[in-house]
Amino acid sequence: MKTLHNFSSRAARWVTGLAVVAAAFSALAQPKIDSTYQPQVWQAGKDVVWVPTPDELVTKMLQAAKVTKDDLVYDLGAGDGKIAIAAGLEFGARAVGIEYNPDMAAFAQRNAERAGVADRVRIIRGDIFVEDFSQATVVTMYLLPELNLRLRPTLLKMKPGTRLVTNSFSMGDWEPDQVIRTSQNSGYFWIVPAQVQGRWNLNGIDSNPVVSLDLHQRYQHVGGTITIGKLAPQTLLTPELQGDQLRFRFVDTNNRLQTVKATIRGNQLEGEVGNTFSNSSFKGSRS
Ligand SMILES: C[S@@+](CC[C@H](N)C(=O)[O-])C[C@H]1O[C@@H](n2cnc3c(N)ncnc32)[C@H](O)[C@@H]1O
Repeated sequence: MKTLHNFSSRAARWVTGLAVVAAAFSALAQPKIDSTYQPQVWQAGKDVVWVPTPDELVTKMLQAAKVTKDDLVYDLGAGDGKIAIAAGLEFGARAVGIEYNPDMAAFAQRNAERAGVADRVRIIRGDIFVEDFSQATVVTMYLLPELNLRLRPTLLKMKPGTRLVTNSFSMGDWEPDQVIRTSQNSGYFWIVPAQVQGRWNLNGIDSNPVVSLDLHQRYQHVGGTITIGKLAPQTLLTPELQGDQLRFRFVDTNNRLQTVKATIRGNQLEGEVGNTFSNSSFKGSRS
């Protein structure tokens, strides 16, 4: 009994000792926040300096992305938090800013509180190349061309339809869907496209039951052919991809022009085919 008692009191001392050491380490690991901190424009940052986006461009970027209260906006490299705060204040959205500099992140969070949007705008201290922002419906960036390119594979894997906006910098050979201009600056806007490349088997798109659609893709630009039964493949007319929405036209076996509108969900698609006189639904899957 005595031995057991000795053992358990020694164990308790160990646990207390360990807890004290862990608390000391965690206090060291927590960056000390200076509540009087004032950032300086052009100050160094982990991967890029801090320069704030001008107010006019902030509004135009968020307008281009058609931000609403239903959006979750992430600003990558949040600086003083102005883009995340504007998304909450002017557009009613929820927003998260990711900022590497701990003093800057705390400064931005205080700005969000002062602006009265802390219930929907949060600034987190973190690295944009580590933090998970996959839930965003809108991503804003004022970084550098090479940083945009490093982020591009992650951005392209986001949910189709996610809107991206940058201040100043492009995304290499991924052309923007829109260029945003103010009197002094410019920005770019993209919609993340669904991955549609490949062969799709379509059901209910023509009186002939065997129809295949062959799509090729470069970012949001698509093209391809549709093959009905044993007829020769025909080139898709006016193909367009916007997020998960695919549209094109083709000529059916009765020589009528048909318009196709489909929604892509991974390897499945469904939509409507029709003309001014009739409309019907159809489905498809990627082989
Ligand atoms: C050009 S400023 C843009 C600030 C703000 N987004 C705006 O447009 O007003 C870039 C910001 O990114 C921060 N930053 C740099 N590298 C970062 C990284 N790897 N992760 C998170 N933030 C970073 C910098 O500290 C700076 O505040």
